Amino acid sequence: MNIKHFSYKNCSNTLFCLVVLLYFFCCNNAIAEVSGDSIAGRNKISMCVGCHGIKDYKTAFPKTYRVPKIAGQRNEYIVSALKAYRSGERNHPSMMAVASSMTDQDIADVAAFYSTQR
Ligand code: HEC
Repeated sequence: MNIKHFSYKNCSNTLFCLVVLLYFFCCNNAIAEVSGDSIAGRNKISMCVGCHGIKDYKTAFPKTYRVPKIAGQRNEYIVSALKAYRSGERNHPSMMAVASSMTDQDIADVAAFYSTQR
């Protein structure tokens, strides 16, 4: 069935139909990549805020260490940092422990959330 025919016959609301068609044309390609959902991310940061939510917080273990601010960092930066901790490319005991339990989807969601915060 051709698209023109489809949109004409099946859509009672032209605007809605246009949106749906546009979505398929422009957004479907991106779906292969894991895309982050900042709403889902907000529910996954409970284990991050203990360290990253506190301004000027310093960890006492394994040594005194300033915890970097991640809110407002670029999405790609957060994703690559977390993947680097997960793979061991970046070496920090607490972050490696945290990242090792995260899936690609968790990382994408959390990054989407933090990158939209200040
Ligand atoms: C136990 C404390 C602690 C917890 C919990 C924690 N982090 Fe971290 N995080 C740190 C410290 C300390 C660093 C700096 C490590 C380093 O220098 O490599 C860091 C670094 C990072 C970085 C890299 C920042 C940069 O500027 O390079 C990201 C991104 C990050 N954390 C995200 C998270 C996320 C997301 C979570 C929750 C899923 C989380 N962290 C949980 C302590 C913590």
